[in-house]
Amino acid sequence: MGRQVLVTGGTGYIGSHTVVELQAVGFDVVIIDDLSNSSADVVDNIEKISGIRPAFEEFNLLDLAKLEAFFEKYSRIEAIIHFAAFKAVGESVAKPLSYYRNNLVSLMNILDCMSKYKISNLVFSSSCTVYGQPDQLPVTENTPKKDAESPYGNTKAISEEILRDVVKVNNALKVIALRYFNPIGAHPTSLIGELPRGVPNNLVPFITQTAAGIRQQLSVFGNDYNTEDGSCIRDYINVVDLAKAHVIAIDRLINNTNDDRHEFFNVGTGYGASVLEIVNTFEEATGVKVNYKIVDRRPGDVEKIYADTTIANTVLGWKAETSLSDTLLSAWNWEKRLRNIG
Ligand code: UD1
Repeated sequence: MGRQVLVTGGTGYIGSHTVVELQAVGFDVVIIDDLSNSSADVVDNIEKISGIRPAFEEFNLLDLAKLEAFFEKYSRIEAIIHFAAFKAVGESVAKPLSYYRNNLVSLMNILDCMSKYKISNLVFSSSCTVYGQPDQLPVTENTPKKDAESPYGNTKAISEEILRDVVKVNNALKVIALRYFNPIGAHPTSLIGELPRGVPNNLVPFITQTAAGIRQQLSVFGNDYNTEDGSCIRDYINVVDLAKAHVIAIDRLINNTNDDRHEFFNVGTGYGASVLEIVNTFEEATGVKVNYKIVDRRPGDVEKIYADTTIANTVLGWKAETSLSDTLLSAWNWEKRLRNIG
């Protein structure tokens, strides 16, 4: 029997892809998810891909009694990947307390249980949002952090601080925080992918829904930024490549021989692409036109950010592999499968 790993938020977008990659190398995966932003079908589709049905427990991590009962039941868990969190920037501005409560208390409950049930290894889902608009590009792990632009972003910054402080007093605890840039794309089987509820906030789901005819037009938020074509620049990372970084991080924690019990890694490609470049690359990769118009800037957007991935490449031994074009094609194949487009 493989080593047991808990994946919170395991039916979500990045979580589900990570479950598949963990299973592929022999881990025995257990998922906790409250299905607040995902569906139970994802468990079936994970099983279709890997041939292995992960154990699945549906509850909210704010319920400490349920979480403790969970760890009593699953006593073999050796490591945790904590994805479960709210992540919509705009919603977080409207409902800050809901974001702080959900994202911070769930992490604190996990940390309490790790101490109580003697589980040492944690991979935490962080974000490049902790850098704000950095003064220097590309950003390294040591680039000074700026004030968060949203309550969502602040939950990630505070979570990293909580982890820093808890590592100091829980001498058994080892943490790797992965700072994701912009995850996009879907599994090559098109059986799992990003499933936004309602109108998508993020760029690529909006593009694929526009291409599928569900949205009339993509709004490109600003073409007067200080960039080559005037639109914002981000570092778009393939979700399967990103999922693989978690497997490497888990291996590193379990077999860790170094003294640093709290590490951070930028998980991006190192390449900054503009919004218009994403639209063009999507059109070239898929042969499908995307109807778009330029509109005003979106409040809170940073102009440009992309990763220096040297530390992830050398220390973690991980590197993004999939091209932007193939990644955008995978996002389109996923959308087509969802909408039964031939
Ligand atoms: C944001 C968060 C990030 C979070 C992610 C997940 C910040 C600074 N970033 O990323 O931490 O993990 O959401 O939800 O808080 N765009 C358009 N039209 C659209 C949608 C987006 O032009 O309809 C543009 C945006 O202006 C931006 C780029 O596309 O330049 C990417 O936007 P998006 O996919 O929303 O991600 P971020 O805002 O980078």
